[in-house]
Parts: sequence; C-alpha cells; structure tokens
Amino acid sequence: MPVTLELEHIAKMFPGTTALDGVSVRWEGGKIHALIGRNGAGKSTLVNILTGALAPTRGTIRLNGLPIVFRSPADARKAGIAAVHQELSLIPELSVAENIFLGRLPRRNGMIPCRVDWHRTNEQAEALLSRLQVRIDHTARAGSLPVAQQQLVEIAKAMADDPSVLLLDEPTSALAKQETDHVFSLLRVLAQRGVLLMYITHRLQEIARIADTVTALRDGTFVPTIPVAEASPETIVSMMFGQNIRFSRVVDHPASGIPILQVNALGRRGAFQDAAFTLYAGEILGVAGLLGSGRTSLLRAIAGADTPDTGTVVLDGTVLSVFSPEAMKQHGIVLTPENRKEEGLVQSLSVRANMCLASLERTAVHGMTTRLRERSVVAKIIRELDIAVPDPEAAVSSLSGGNQQKVVLGKWLNTRPRVMLFDEPTRGIDLKAKLQIFQLINRLSAQGIASIVVSSELEELMDICHRILVMKAGRITGTLDPTQSTLDELFGRCMQ
Ligand SMILES: Nc1ncnc2c1ncn2[C@@H]1O[C@H](COP(=O)(O)OP(=O)(O)OP(=O)(O)O)[C@@H](O)[C@H]1O
Ligand SMILES: [Mg+2]
Repeated sequence: MPVTLELEHIAKMFPGTTALDGVSVRWEGGKIHALIGRNGAGKSTLVNILTGALAPTRGTIRLNGLPIVFRSPADARKAGIAAVHQELSLIPELSVAENIFLGRLPRRNGMIPCRVDWHRTNEQAEALLSRLQVRIDHTARAGSLPVAQQQLVEIAKAMADDPSVLLLDEPTSALAKQETDHVFSLLRVLAQRGVLLMYITHRLQEIARIADTVTALRDGTFVPTIPVAEASPETIVSMMFGQNIRFSRVVDHPASGIPILQVNALGRRGAFQDAAFTLYAGEILGVAGLLGSGRTSLLRAIAGADTPDTGTVVLDGTVLSVFSPEAMKQHGIVLTPENRKEEGLVQSLSVRANMCLASLERTAVHGMTTRLRERSVVAKIIRELDIAVPDPEAAVSSLSGGNQQKVVLGKWLNTRPRVMLFDEPTRGIDLKAKLQIFQLINRLSAQGIASIVVSSELEELMDICHRILVMKAGRITGTLDPTQSTLDELFGRCMQ
C-alpha cells in the first residue's frame, strides 16, 4: 500500500493575514506532486504545518488514513515526515556528516553517555549518501561545497531518518539547469522507493520534467489537482493566477550609447580574471554562465563587497579607488545579492526599517529620522512594487520569499542609484512578480539607470537585456545580442 497524505480543510491565520483558507487534498506515495502558487500563496506555511513547526488554526491532517497532530518538528519527524526548507540551512563550518545528523548525532555508550560517536556519525553519513547515490565526501566542510551539492546534502539530511514523506520547498531555486538534473535524479530514486514527494517550485518548466501531478494554491485554497500530462504551460499559469500571463521581451527601448561605467582588467584571485566591458547609461547588461563561472564575484567586486586584486572600475571618467559597499553606494552603485536572507535584509527588523536602512539620510532632518517620515516613503515603494504586506511594521521575516526580494529592491530604489547590480533577482519569484520586476528594471533603464543582471535562467536574460556577456571559468568569453540570437545559442555559448 502506498503511503497517503490527506489534508482536510486546513486553515492558518496570522494576524492580519489568512495564509491558508480551508485546503483539502490527497497525495500518494511513489509519486512526485508539484505544488505551485504565487508568492505568499501559503506554500511554505503548508510545509511548516506538515512538519509540526506551525499548528493549523483548524483542519485535519491524515497520514495513511489516521489523523495526526504534531506538537513539534520532532513529532513530525517521528511520524515520517521530513522537509527541505526554502532557504539553505547547512552550517558552513561543520562537515557534511555533522550537518546531516545535527541535533541527533549518534552517541557513544559507556561511562560518559553524552559523548558523540564520531566513528558511527561518519559511517552512517557515508552509508546514507551511498544509499541515495549521492557522491559527496562526508568529511568535507559544508561551506566548501558548491550550492548544488549543498542542496543534495540538505536532501540527504532530510532523508536521514528514512521518512515516507518528503516535502521540498524550492530546492532548485539557486541552481542552474545542469545542477538541477542531479537533484531530479535523486528525487526519482526516492519516488521509486515509494516515498511521497511534494515539490514546490516557481520554475514552471520543471513541472513537466519531474512531477506526476500538479496542485495549485490560490487565495489560500487549492485549485484541484491534475495529472501532469494534462497540464500545459498555459493551464499551469492560469491555475496559479486565475488568468494567463504572457511573457515576451520586456525591454522596449535601446540603451543610450553614453558610457557610464567602465570595467578594465578587473580580477580577483581564484574568482575571475581580466574582466573588461563598458556599461552605457540606461543599458541592461546580462551576465550568463554556469554556477562557479565567476558571475557573482564580478558583481561583488564592482559593488565593493570584495576588493579586486587587479584592474579598475571607472564611473563617469573617475577611477573609483575605494572598494567598499558604503563607498560604492555613495557613487550610486548598488547590489541586490543572490542570498537575500543573509546579505540583503536584516531579518529581525520590520519591512519599513529594512527599506530605509540604506538611505537614512534621505528621511532624516537634522540627523534625526522619524517613523512618520519613513512611513510615507515606504508606502510609496510598497505600492510601486506591489508588495504584499499587511503592515509595514511587520518583521521582514514574516513575508513570503518573493515579497522579501521586492523589499531588497525597494531598499535600493530609495538610495537613487545610477548603476544597479542584480544577482539572480528573480530567484523564488513568481511569474507575475517576475514580470513586475522586469518592468521596473525596464522603467529604470528608460530613466538612464544602468543595470547588470546575473541570472541562471537564460530565458530571462533574453527577455530583459540589451546585451549579454558570457562568462566561463572566471573569464568573459563573449558578447551576444539577444535580438539577433536564440536561446539555444546562448545556452551553447555558456556550455562551450
Ligand atoms: N510567521 C508569520 N507571521 C505572519 N505572517 C506570516 C508568517 N508566515 C507567513 N506569513 C504570511 O502568510 C502568507 C503565506 O506565506 P508563505 O511564506 O507560506 O507563502 P509562499 O507561498 O511560500 O510564498 P513564496 O513563493 O514567496 O515563498 C504570506 O502573506 C505571509 O506574509
Ligand atoms: Mg515559500
């Protein structure tokens, strides 16, 4: 008998928000069930309920027909439900084996019962990884692994107790297409063994590749589940939004031809070398490449987050000599980082505080800023970016992933930037929000603000860029005009 998971009328209210409003569905083991829905639809909330991190306001969960109530994540784990959460959670300084068994490291029997049995820890980690057909050294420091491998370790960690249900919340959002393949083959292995997999993604083209059924969350309730064979891309989009959203090339005007930023022979040891290009006012310049090709390091150096070893960055004919985020911000160069949770936001602060943090001087009078002044600035950005937040005083951590990303963008718009650097700006962002962000970049471009956009989703670069640089193994290997080339060409150039 395959394992079954049923939700009956599950609801979850937060102050000011109804995240889930009577959700009912039935999923079966041995299959991969895609769950989709726009940012804030309640997907992660559902994962948190199923793993015992949150209690539902009402409703029943049945596992193999029997109602279950979880008081803690440990309860859910015991019942055989595990999850890989939306953001990576490995501790970079610990080994792969330590991460896998974190909080439940095997103990040694004997006189001092609380001593960790390192031998068993390593042995069990190795056995688990080989059982899952994941080839990663269990003694490696987690932080030293590429993101794709870290993601596989996250899945292995969730599988350590042999759960019968595995919930995956956007496990591929940080991965490029080739790396995604590794995760997919692991998921298929698990499904073949009868595990019930629930798979959340915003990359709709993944659904046909990996899932057996699709279910959408809309306005807190489920749109009925359908088999993947019946789910055309249009059907999927209208399941999520209640309407179809068409995507085509967003950028609608040429770049100005007035140079604004010049990067000459820029390099940073071990990351990228010899980067040279000119960015024009109002230009949207894409950077394509595989994971590890040096895209992020290049952006970080230009933004002053890292100091380059060689080369110069010239803004309007002036060589910029100080490499710090502060100095670059003064010049109007700002970076939206790849990892919004750690580098883009202060999770414990409110939406308002996060949005004003980078531009306190703009709301201050005689060195003092007031909540009132900040509020009017913030209200404007919330409207402009269509951010779903019940109250700007809410902690930024309570926002859904996509809305958090918009707060990062809002923070920088407040500083009146001249050059905006975007590292994976649409990671974890739903189709509609993606379109809104692209339209925003396009509007900024029309005002003369230049952007450099790094994205693993090459289609996006084709839609939004005037010009695309291709990076490989730390070097810029070519340039491509998206109006004169195809997606396949771009993909080929990245792989070459
Ligand atoms: N701890 C919390 N306190 C208050 N509101 C919350 C909390 N957690 C989630 N919410 C709200 O519940 C709603 C659903 O959020 P959830 O994170 O489940 O969305 P999601 O579908 O996972 O979105 P995304 O695709 O952006 O990750 C959102 O409006 C969010 O702001
Ligand atoms: Mg989520």
